[in-house]
Amino acid sequence: MKILVTGGTGYIGSHTVVELHQAGYEVLIVDDLSNSNIRILDQIEAIIGKKPLFFQFDLCDEQMVKAFAEQNADISGVIHFAASKAVGESVEKPLKYYRNNFFSLINLLQAFNSRLNFVFSSSCTVYGQPDQLPVNESAPVKKAESPYGNTKQIAEEILAETCAVSPDLNVISLRYFNPVGAHKSALIGELPNGVPQNLVPFITQSAIGKRGPITVYGNDYNTPDGSAIRDYIHVVDLAKAHVAALKRMEEGRSEGNYEVFNVGTGKGSSVLEIIAAFESSTGEKLNYQIGPRREGDIEQIYGSVDKSAEKLGWKAELGIEEMMRSAWEWEKYIKANPFE
Ligand code: NAD
Ligand code: WQD
Repeated sequence: MKILVTGGTGYIGSHTVVELHQAGYEVLIVDDLSNSNIRILDQIEAIIGKKPLFFQFDLCDEQMVKAFAEQNADISGVIHFAASKAVGESVEKPLKYYRNNFFSLINLLQAFNSRLNFVFSSSCTVYGQPDQLPVNESAPVKKAESPYGNTKQIAEEILAETCAVSPDLNVISLRYFNPVGAHKSALIGELPNGVPQNLVPFITQSAIGKRGPITVYGNDYNTPDGSAIRDYIHVVDLAKAHVAALKRMEEGRSEGNYEVFNVGTGKGSSVLEIIAAFESSTGEKLNYQIGPRREGDIEQIYGSVDKSAEKLGWKAELGIEEMMRSAWEWEKYIKANPFE
């Protein structure tokens, strides 16, 4: 089976390419390298022993997407990772986010308009601060805190409405919680642009001396230790959820042609617990200070994973220690073997 992975040289995409190959799929990657490095292809080859087919172009280019789809009519599934994803930047440049995240999605849906299985990268950000925890898939979608978050909410609507009039299209939106960690080979991992906004890459860059002390954004939340709680998920577990989603659609097990699943561990960890887990699993001491809350942050979220376990037959297997250890091994690898 031929699968198109858009954004396949990115963080989650590259790990998913590896899992797809290991599950027996033939993979084609489209990426414009706007937020990833071409060297990731060599890294993937070093893991799977084969260089995936790679096409560099911008998915916002309607003619390119159309021509690509015509030349590759035997593609049976698309996993659509390609998007702009920096929450803060989306507030500064909303049109960049609406343009990139919608044009790419619409072009793909138009070009591959017949018999297709499509997996979409959604986000737990659609829930905002949920009223009940763990949050399940039927919880209401709350007003988005950022243009980025809004693109995920509207993209889910675009997909649901398109599915309603396209019986041959099958879509699964996966709502990721907080993906962290790296492949156990330490050959692929997250490559943040500039100062990392996310907690775990900031921790690893601080530990290696590339950044100063970590600032814990708030210790006055209504949580056991006062710091905010998230559901961190190992990127390799997350990658495997995409294989499970494809298989569900291929085997005709979907209930309706549009479905939504949480992809998390079901377990919340606080910022201070993450810092402690990094220290205990790597033996590295971290410097951190307590700062004010970050604007737009919610207090706590973790997902119910019952639906994913029951219907996708998927469950996260790797714990916080492995997430921290693998993130650290990758940070050390990329310091010793920089791409640029
Ligand atoms: P990433 O930036 O590492 O990967 C995205 C890839 O898409 C990059 O390689 C980039 O070059 C490519 N891309 C972007 N726009 C493109 C375009 N117009 N044409 C072709 N390629 C393009 O991001 P990631 O962390 O791997 O995230 C993948 C997806 O998962 C995104 O849709 C993101 O919104 C979503 N997501 C990420 C997180 C997270 O915390 N990392 C959480 C929830 C959802
Ligand atoms: C985690 C926790 C911070 C940095 C974001 C997006 C979300 C999703 C995942 C895509 C929070 C705290 C962080 C630091 C800190 N992306 N923190 N010091 O904010 O949960 O989610 O990425 O869909 O949409 O909003 O992730 O890693 O930024 O923060 O204390 O230097 O760590 O306040 O509680 P977040 P994060």
